[in-house]
Amino acid sequence: MGWNDWAHYQCDFTEQTILDNARALVRTGLAARGYRTVTIDDCWMLKARDGRGDLQPDPQRFPHGMKPVAEAIHHLGLRFGIYEDAGSETCGGFAGSGVPEGGGEDHFLQDAKLFAGWGVDYLKLDGCNVYAAKGESQNTAYRAAYRAQSAALLQVGRPVIFSESAPAYFQGTAEWYDVLSWVRSYGQLWREGSDIATFDVKTPDAPRFQSVLWNYAYNLPLGRFQSAGNWNDADFIIGGDGGMTPAETRSQVALWSMMSAPLILSSNLSALSPEAISVLGNREVVSVDQDPLGKMATLLQRTTASDLLFKELADGRYAVAVLNRGRASLHVELRAADLGFAPVGCRFSSVDLWSGRREPDALRLQAEIAPHDTAIWRVHPAGACGAPARMGAITRLASGRHRDAEGYTLCMASNGDVEACSDSQAQRWTVTPAGALESAGRCLAAEDGRVRMQRCGSSEAQRWKYTLVGDLINRGDRLCLTGSAKQGLTLAMCGRSLAAQIWSLPND
Ligand code: GLA
Repeated sequence: MGWNDWAHYQCDFTEQTILDNARALVRTGLAARGYRTVTIDDCWMLKARDGRGDLQPDPQRFPHGMKPVAEAIHHLGLRFGIYEDAGSETCGGFAGSGVPEGGGEDHFLQDAKLFAGWGVDYLKLDGCNVYAAKGESQNTAYRAAYRAQSAALLQVGRPVIFSESAPAYFQGTAEWYDVLSWVRSYGQLWREGSDIATFDVKTPDAPRFQSVLWNYAYNLPLGRFQSAGNWNDADFIIGGDGGMTPAETRSQVALWSMMSAPLILSSNLSALSPEAISVLGNREVVSVDQDPLGKMATLLQRTTASDLLFKELADGRYAVAVLNRGRASLHVELRAADLGFAPVGCRFSSVDLWSGRREPDALRLQAEIAPHDTAIWRVHPAGACGAPARMGAITRLASGRHRDAEGYTLCMASNGDVEACSDSQAQRWTVTPAGALESAGRCLAAEDGRVRMQRCGSSEAQRWKYTLVGDLINRGDRLCLTGSAKQGLTLAMCGRSLAAQIWSLPND
């Protein structure tokens, strides 16, 4: 949790901007709520290195160099983060740490030493301009660069949190899942996709919520890559800044918290309204985000207008959220069975985390949700509720669409269709502990090379092995579950990260 200048200021900042925001973190009480790492993004340096090959802070922006800035930030009780790039140049065209274009020596260790000397606690290593030698794949080149920086950071005698942007440079390609599988070996968090919309002084009120929905859409199906200490990063919190209404601000904070995503504010903190500060600093919502289990929420239901999310917390409680992405107000009423608990006799206490309203003994959650708002509760089930079933939608990414949050996923239906998500009965699945995929009491099976729903039994044909990249491999015939909008569900030889074979399962 912390603050970064990029989404609000881009390259328009100086030492003053950074320190003003660091002080505002403390003054607003947001630092006390956990927002403690202040990171300077791109454009802080000169284009060239000095005679010793060291990076040079831009003297116009940082007339006293970088060390006093780090010290001032530490003095406020905050941590200091900095931006660099795994390629020859940063995205803004400044000196990168990576191999120069055409080959040569990298500067990973030299830069890591410089950063440690300044007192850097956090490094965001971007991935523009990464050089791949002839015959070397992009994936291999990125992996070598991030591995090298990770190793360098371990040599400098100072713990530095390592944020990797590598996966974002593979979004939409078959390599994406492979990159997502290796980043966790080298760093603590990683950006998987495109940038959240930045603030533009010329159009300060330009709407930015679609961009929030897009980043949420691509982050949510990646739960299997995340575990406590290794985080998917859905990019900055722009809630409270221009272009975001109070409802949209609540939604971003609730959705990010349901995903246990890093909460990195990127706004002008001195201009935040008291209402925005109370949303960003909401103790209960932040504690859902920071829950030690570190789970990503599971998608229980998706329709064109809404998502129902469910997240297991470390203390035997659960968080539940409903996003209303539609234009009309939404009335929701959720019973225990809708959340996966025993349909009969399950009572629970609940807290509405925005209003603080408590229901000590309830049978259902109810809310009226305004357009673009998100309701969020913490639920404490009584003994009769049992453990929640592993249930929800099974999705794959729709092909060929970009930045279309609503159309981003297709849902698997038990009639064999792969279709727009509507939360129809046929789109409701339970993954059993034995690895069967069950819908309405029947199980998905591979039968003579085809996919069929059968009476549930114990045959291997009804067991599916789920891999990290997201393949569902039938334990009977070893074929991969393949789904397309045109052909529906079929079985095919497992390919390498084929979009039609990559599934997101409940609670993966
Ligand atoms: C990329 C990153 C952004 C920001 C800019 C800086 O676009 O994704 O977060 O760091 O580079 O140039």
